[in-house]
Amino acid sequence: MEHQTGHQTVLVLDFGGQYNQLIARRVRECGVYCEVLPYSTPLAEIRGRAPIGIIFTGGPHSVYAPGAPQADPALFALGVPILGICYGCQLLAHSLGGQVTPAQEDSAREYGKTVTAFDTDCALFAGLPAEGVTWMSHGDYMARIPAGFRLTAHSSACPNVAIADEARRFYGVQFHPEVNHTEHGTQMLRNFLYQVCGAVGDWTMEDYCKATVAALREKIGSGKVLLALSGGVDSSVAAALLAEAVGSQLTCVFVDHGLMRKNEGDEVEAAFAKWDIHFVRVNAAERFLGRLAGVTEPERKRKIIGEEFIRVFEEEGEKIGQVDYLVQGTIYPDVIESGLGDAAVIKSHHNVGGLPDTVDFKEIIEPLRMLFKDEVRQLGRELGLPEYLVMRQPFPGPGLAIRVIGEVTPEKLAILREADAIFREEVAAAGQEYAMNQYFAVLTDMRSVGVMGDSRTYDYTLALRGVTTTDFMTADWARLPYELLDRVSVRIVNEVGHINRVVYDITSKPPATIEWE
Ligand code: XMP
Repeated sequence: MEHQTGHQTVLVLDFGGQYNQLIARRVRECGVYCEVLPYSTPLAEIRGRAPIGIIFTGGPHSVYAPGAPQADPALFALGVPILGICYGCQLLAHSLGGQVTPAQEDSAREYGKTVTAFDTDCALFAGLPAEGVTWMSHGDYMARIPAGFRLTAHSSACPNVAIADEARRFYGVQFHPEVNHTEHGTQMLRNFLYQVCGAVGDWTMEDYCKATVAALREKIGSGKVLLALSGGVDSSVAAALLAEAVGSQLTCVFVDHGLMRKNEGDEVEAAFAKWDIHFVRVNAAERFLGRLAGVTEPERKRKIIGEEFIRVFEEEGEKIGQVDYLVQGTIYPDVIESGLGDAAVIKSHHNVGGLPDTVDFKEIIEPLRMLFKDEVRQLGRELGLPEYLVMRQPFPGPGLAIRVIGEVTPEKLAILREADAIFREEVAAAGQEYAMNQYFAVLTDMRSVGVMGDSRTYDYTLALRGVTTTDFMTADWARLPYELLDRVSVRIVNEVGHINRVVYDITSKPPATIEWE
């Protein structure tokens, strides 16, 4: 299942740019399967994938600098269309006999949104307006374009924004068609795929789902499969896929640590009721809370929960006995991030759980390892998972334990759950659900004075947090409408006991983190 056979494939060769995954996602959104490979991938491997097109990504280097990543010259002799983006464009120029130099101040160096004029006779820009905004970020300039190429776009600052050699089917753009700031950028990629590479659009989730279910059935045979279900999107979709493929041979262990949001445990259980699988829900709230009693230090909480999780899972594993396959919900961004060197990002958090030592299995199955998050969600829909599960926002493994500041008690958890549910309800009612990537309530351990009716109160302060982010490594606080914040505040103070003050967190990450602990 690692390599998708039977689909046309485009290869994205990674030169270390920040938008590389985005390029691959866009290509797949256009209905064409693609994979991201390091630029140094041996030619034989590239040839082995029989790509219909190759895309060179951007990157932080200057092509003329010593040691800058280069393209294998043999790539240009494959007869396969190539699109170079930003660094990739300069690389095309540099490799094929043109000249790339540092741009002079004020002239051809460009950052940000730039009005660009296109030659719509070029296949890349066919059918698009002759002028549009593009997103630029380059400090180098193609001083001389290679023989066989012509210029196909320019801006006021830079005469050489795009090049094309239509005979050899090589195209280069200095801007980033993959980012939303570039008008019609996706259409340019689509033009490359469909008009230049001859794509037929054979990458659909419906087909992928059928093919993967069949492949899993064949691989697993009559084997026994174990999956640790967290209730998050990835593990839920992986579970649904396996449930569809092997039904009763699958055991899902869902450890309910009592630190989930309101109704979440029941929702997860209900979502899997339609399959004939062994669904083991371990209600371990008392156990977890017992171990957390008196603990206030955030990292200590995380550690305790992580350890307890493994212990519970091991106990369940022992009851189940020998299994053949253990399923993990690894997705493609994790694969790219851990395997591609240059653009590698170190994840700061791992999911609670890890791999218990005592569970015996022959092999790990990662059925989502070639899918982006949007595709995982689409697959979940294909498999009939409810929308609230498929669109669930990220939720930390230690759950509400790191959103109750200080000691975690059943009383505080109950307060937080109600407040958080109101926040989510109002956000949904205001149509702001997808305007944020993560949002939640935090119960602080600060109490302050208030007045309710004629009496003085001395109760908790609740904090609301909402962020927008693409990678969760940096984040901005969401500019929620005041009316929404007002409704949430009024409802929480009126409907949830022991909260008399609501604040909204207006710090970005960095310097703050997304979670409070
Ligand atoms: P921070 O707070 O570090 O969070 O800005 C970044 C993202 O990671 C999630 N998060 C965790 N996820 N175990 C997890 O599985 C954890 O211990 C953990 N701590 C934070 C957080 O919700 C956000 O999406």
